[in-house]
Amino acid sequence: MEKLVIEGGRPLHGVVQVSGAKNAALPILCASLLTDGTCTFRNVPRLRDVETMAALLRFMGAESTVAPPLVELRAGSVSRPEAPYELVKQMRASVLVLGPLVARHGYAKVSLPGGCAIGARPIDQHLKGLEAMGATIRLDHGYVVAESKRLVGATIHLDMATVTGTENLMMAAALAKGRTQLVGAAREPEIEELARVLNKMGARIDGAGTDIIHIEGVDVLHAVDHAIIPDRIEAGTFLLAAAATGGDVFVRDAIPEHIEPLLAKLREAGAELVREDGGVRVRSDGARSLRGTDISTAPHPGFPTDMQAQFMAVMTLAQGTSVVTESVFENRFMHVPELGRMGAHVDVHGRVATVTGVERLSGASVMATDLRASACLVIAALTAPDRSEVLRVYHLDRGYESIEKKLAPLGARIERGRGEG
Ligand code: EPZ
Repeated sequence: MEKLVIEGGRPLHGVVQVSGAKNAALPILCASLLTDGTCTFRNVPRLRDVETMAALLRFMGAESTVAPPLVELRAGSVSRPEAPYELVKQMRASVLVLGPLVARHGYAKVSLPGGCAIGARPIDQHLKGLEAMGATIRLDHGYVVAESKRLVGATIHLDMATVTGTENLMMAAALAKGRTQLVGAAREPEIEELARVLNKMGARIDGAGTDIIHIEGVDVLHAVDHAIIPDRIEAGTFLLAAAATGGDVFVRDAIPEHIEPLLAKLREAGAELVREDGGVRVRSDGARSLRGTDISTAPHPGFPTDMQAQFMAVMTLAQGTSVVTESVFENRFMHVPELGRMGAHVDVHGRVATVTGVERLSGASVMATDLRASACLVIAALTAPDRSEVLRVYHLDRGYESIEKKLAPLGARIERGRGEG
């Protein structure tokens, strides 16, 4: 397995480019299932998850050209409307083929994703919505089998603002007969981006980005050529890394409106953030110059759970105490023991972690457990004035395109190596 070897303690300076958004690209690739045409997607990030999604679509019978940042897909006439366990267990977002398959083919057999490191993550809301639109759902040896002659629009009240649940149901409703309302919908920028793509394909969706989305079903959707928005979580990760090490970094293509909660919290902590044409600049004297700041994660427009671990890494060195509350997932503090091995002081009680700033972190060999925990450990290692190794870096590669190639030009001493564990 590969690892990242980092000699930290150096400030970061320069310009870093944000890639296309993973959590926009994944549902958008699935939207190709809704049309016979050849879809062209640009600014697609070069990530393991994108490769996995393309592999799943090919398994189902789609034709594809996958050369990020360009991806072309012809997925309208899949021969196998099924998502096998082998692929779904690698990536939960595979469940996003469910809505499009039922809407377009009247049938889908998708492996239940099972739990994952950060929580149970059921898909009951996805299934409830499809049933409300007339699909019959049955469980068959770990698989969901969904069938429907033609989905019919319905008013669906979601019990929580689920991101992929909203996306699955928006794609299904786009080809349903009649009108659908998603009440209690997720409001993330990636939801708005998917609605933009579906509307370019001929769908009639409005309200995306609010908690009530209206979809007027149509009979046919056509092909689309679309460039995907930049990745707000990657952008936020780079802003946090520079705030932690100190320095002056311009994050090109960061969209301030997509990361307002993070910008507000970083300013509260004392970092200097400047909107500049085409991105966001961060200036900082390093985490030790920042004030401990509390965060509580919430669905958009709250503080993103996907930036909780990275923010905590910065707070391990800030002056005073920070209270980090993880309200979205039930087990998203696996980075805490690894931070502890580097000398951080973090006490976890249930969904609340209390972080007490220390003078410095020490380098160590640490284990990545999930995508954003890996990013947290990279940030922590960048601050430690000696050598660290982040093992199982395949977690990181799921959501960050060649992170060492983006950080090294900023002055970080970071390289990829072969590692144990
Ligand atoms: C999306 O996951 C993202 N993934 C996650 O990003 C992100 O952490 C999450 O949204 C929250 O923002 C993609 O977009 C591909 P949810 P998703 O459904 O849709 C519960 C990353 O790091 N829930 O919004 O799976 C669920 O258990 C990844 O890029 C149900 O109970 O998250 C969780 O506690 C990690 N029943 C909460 O809702 C359901 O039917 C939010 O989950 C659906 C969800």
